Amino acid sequence: MSQTPEIKIALIGCGTVGSGVVRILQSSADQLTRRAGRRPVLKHVVVKNPERQRDVSLDGYLVGSSVDAVVNDPEVQVAVHVVGGIQPALDDVTRLLKAGKDVITANKALLYAHGEELFALAGELNRTICFEAAVAGGIPIISAVNTALTANEILSIEGILNGTSNFILTRMYDRRQTYEEVLREAQARGYAEADPAMDVDGTDAAQKLSILTRLAFGTRVPLDAIVRQGIQHIELLDLIVAADLGYRIKLLATSRLAKGRLEVSVQPTLVRADRPAALTSGADNIISIEGSALGMLRLAGAGAGQMPTASAVVADIVDYATGRAALTFQSLLRMQQREPIPMQPQEELSRRYYLRFTVADRPHVLADIADVLGRNAISISSVRQDETEDMADGTGVARLVIMTHRTTEGRLRAADRDIAALNSLRGARIRMPIAE
Ligand SMILES: NC(=O)c1ccc[n+]([C@@H]2O[C@H](COP(=O)([O-])OP(=O)(O)OC[C@H]3O[C@@H](n4cnc5c(N)ncnc54)[C@H](OP(=O)(O)O)[C@@H]3O)[C@@H](O)[C@H]2O)c1
Repeated sequence: MSQTPEIKIALIGCGTVGSGVVRILQSSADQLTRRAGRRPVLKHVVVKNPERQRDVSLDGYLVGSSVDAVVNDPEVQVAVHVVGGIQPALDDVTRLLKAGKDVITANKALLYAHGEELFALAGELNRTICFEAAVAGGIPIISAVNTALTANEILSIEGILNGTSNFILTRMYDRRQTYEEVLREAQARGYAEADPAMDVDGTDAAQKLSILTRLAFGTRVPLDAIVRQGIQHIELLDLIVAADLGYRIKLLATSRLAKGRLEVSVQPTLVRADRPAALTSGADNIISIEGSALGMLRLAGAGAGQMPTASAVVADIVDYATGRAALTFQSLLRMQQREPIPMQPQEELSRRYYLRFTVADRPHVLADIADVLGRNAISISSVRQDETEDMADGTGVARLVIMTHRTTEGRLRAADRDIAALNSLRGARIRMPIAE
């Protein structure tokens, strides 16, 4: 092995993902060298606090707190950047590319917000950016889209892209617990961040879906163009009623080509209980991609976590070392110059819906809601009302679930505005599409 050329690596960030990368580089060096044809040698480790005790040994590496050491080291060819947030990640990656380093990143927030400019810069400088770990952690979805599926026109991408919200929804139903109870447990177990807002409100899944949509369809989709809802208002009752009707509720991210237009949404969705997405439980992710030649491809597994995410990062290192990553990145840049597919206006998305209202228990309430739906040309497929619940003030409330026939998002939004004005309404209104 002594004749084998080396590839000098810098690691920026040695937290959850970074220390997993170190662990694999240390434990599998020979196997990685055989795969890559070059020996990956970690030279620098840059962290915020170099004094902090790590759960991996950093003996033998140059450990510091400034990216300058990497930028100024001509031996380093590739920088693995696994620090979250936009800044200083954006400045770091920009400087690294300008210094002639190739970059491997797991930072989806950075790629969502600045992927266009960073890819363009890398293209101009003849550098490469690898980002397999940025979407769905250990699941090799980026390489599936960029290499394995290149014979196909992609017709749809549908999946569960946020493990935290999937854990919450699964646990709520399995243990018959409330959203708040399960969220506390997810935080205690380290699945959910101290501030879980981006996980549960659909932002994290939408950023990942936006990156995948750009790669698969060539269309840049900002968050506000995505029909987006989180899981914060889902109650145990919704999960139980959905199950009675033969469905599971999943935070489903979907990009679909329909009549030449792209429909892009991230919403809690009723999925038939026997469908693979419905069977994906806990913190796992699943992605189904439909290709014009291949048909349906499904990838499922750990969408986050130390070793699964590090697995994707190290696969990028090997790909980089073989030279494959540079070729794939050039091809990606050429594909980005495609004519983008126009977006379907949000109001025109057409699906069946589950609607749930908490209403005062008094005559005509159902008739009033049915009347609003009727006036908005929304046709009802079934209605279910559970036993009335007595409130502390002596009034009763009823929970009303209405399944609609196919209708548009626009009609639903208009009806929702009218229903919100009814004085019989109590509490949140829930509306979820039903997957085909
Ligand atoms: N965790 C996952 O399961 C997962 C999955 C997919 C993608 N990702 C992405 O991977 C990236 C890293 O996530 P993580 O979970 O590993 O984060 P983390 O555990 O918080 O680790 C972040 C690391 O970055 C270092 N750091 C922070 N600011 C820095 C700075 N200004 N300069 C140099 N180093 C700095 C920290 O140093 P100290 O250790 O000294 O504080 C720490 O080592 C994020 O973009 C995340 O979205 C994570």
